Amino acid sequence: MREVYSHRTYSSPIFIAVASLAVLSFLALTNYISASQWHWPTNFRITSFPPAPITDEGQQRIIKKQLRWFKDISDKEKYRDKKNDEKLKQLETSLAVARALIREASLDHNCTSSSALDDDVDSVPHGDIYRNVCAFHRSYQLMEKLFKIFVYEDGDPPLFHDGPCKSIYAMEGLFINLMEADTKFRTLNPDEAHVFFLPFSVVRILQHLFHPQIRDKAVLEHTVVDYVHIISHRYPYWNRSLGVDHFMLSCHDWGPRATWYMRLLYFNSIRVLCNANTSEHYIARKDASFPEINLMTGETEGITGGLPPLNRTILAFFAGKMHGKLRQALFQHWLTKDEDILVYETLPEGLSYYEMMKKSRYCICPSGYEVASPRIAEAIYAECVPVLISQHYVFPFSDVLNWDSFSIQVSVNEIPYLKKILLGIQEDRYLRMYQGVKQVQRHFVINDPPIRYDVFHMIIHSVWLRRLNAQITG
Ligand SMILES: *[C@@H]1O[C@H](CO)[C@@H](O)[C@H](O)[C@H]1NC(C)=O
Ligand SMILES: *[C@@H]1O[C@H](CO)[C@@H](O)[C@H](O)[C@H]1NC(C)=O
Ligand SMILES: *[C@@H]1O[C@H](CO)[C@@H](O)[C@H](O)[C@H]1NC(C)=O
Ligand SMILES: *[C@@H]1O[C@H](CO)[C@@H](O)[C@H](O)[C@H]1NC(C)=O
Repeated sequence: MREVYSHRTYSSPIFIAVASLAVLSFLALTNYISASQWHWPTNFRITSFPPAPITDEGQQRIIKKQLRWFKDISDKEKYRDKKNDEKLKQLETSLAVARALIREASLDHNCTSSSALDDDVDSVPHGDIYRNVCAFHRSYQLMEKLFKIFVYEDGDPPLFHDGPCKSIYAMEGLFINLMEADTKFRTLNPDEAHVFFLPFSVVRILQHLFHPQIRDKAVLEHTVVDYVHIISHRYPYWNRSLGVDHFMLSCHDWGPRATWYMRLLYFNSIRVLCNANTSEHYIARKDASFPEINLMTGETEGITGGLPPLNRTILAFFAGKMHGKLRQALFQHWLTKDEDILVYETLPEGLSYYEMMKKSRYCICPSGYEVASPRIAEAIYAECVPVLISQHYVFPFSDVLNWDSFSIQVSVNEIPYLKKILLGIQEDRYLRMYQGVKQVQRHFVINDPPIRYDVFHMIIHSVWLRRLNAQITG
């Protein structure tokens, strides 16, 4: 095993026991944060967007007063030389104002308030691909205006501050790199941050420390527990919120499980995950689902586009390995059996995977070993309407996106009737979904440097939304 991890590892079970005890007694003995001081609004679910209303009258009064103040919030002078808790109070107030504005926008069916504020008319979100387009637009604008993220500098590459930028885990490294290079959301001043990013790569930890024969998963535990230990002792922010305003991101299957060893990270922090399986470590109330994107070459140029609807000669297409029980059912019914539903385990000579997607009307995206599949993003890139077959999967960005408007969901029981279902879809509905896929495409595209509304920004927006749903008092 390579010696790549530079920090002391607090690996003994005794340490972990002591740490957990310390945290528990800390929880019990202080009134720092109690249930009455912060809570998840009970009606916040992955399906509830925008964030819950402010019901507290005192808070409503503050918001009214602050609405004017909000207009020139960018005026940083107001923040200078104030005490930390004063700063936190101001951060929380600005979030409360944002919440109120988003709720207001959610009731404005013409998006008048947000459209008037956007100079970039072409990029204004529109159409039924969103759950609530006005709320999303307003929330996005407020995120651009207010949101600040602090990235802990502790830890060294390759396990920290770096990650894979190719293959199916590409998003892990890309996000870390783009986040660290970011000049819009990243702040170097932790006192003005709304959230704190823990820049470790689960893929890298496993690549460098996990021995394929010994298979000791404790390496994951040691690294993550140690990291949180370090940042919670060096800085006041973790203890202040008990991790609620901290986030990690992972595309690895074991991403969710990597946080299990640090209960506050697991239960409190925002975890941005590809493996968003609600039956397995994914907590919909506060975690966020983001797309798995398989970047073969690491290049993102020229991977989008496909034939217009009339030129799509294949009804439905799938090619992929046989793993997971959903694929078993798919193969059992459709493997090279039908001339309209083309299902392959290995693609015949001369056929190109991406070209097939570009000329298919529907692309079948079944879960494999894990719920997430890179096919969803691939289908969207190829402007092929995704046919989603999964269980317990929270689709990427589904707090904002209305997946039913640009994809088909087929249950496992319906797999035998796949052809009948797809042929039964009226042409005008297909065309609307096709247009929806084209519209939603920009939210899945990777750009370096990032551009507005792309996948990087959508991930940031997911974190922003979850931070909006927490209230922290110092
Ligand atoms: C929205 O626009 C429609 C047509 O332009 C108009 O009839 C309606 O009154 C508007 N609604 C609001 C809430 O402004
Ligand atoms: C955070 O809390 C832990 C556990 O109570 C404590 O050991 C640590 O010193 C605290 N960190 C800071 C920066 O005060
Ligand atoms: C689509 O099909 C039409 C008619 O067959 C053809 O003229 C056109 O060039 C095709 N378009 C593309 C982009 O292949
Ligand atoms: C989701 O989690 C459940 C519970 O652990 C598991 O049985 C199922 O296989 C997972 N789904 C996938 C596609 O991995």
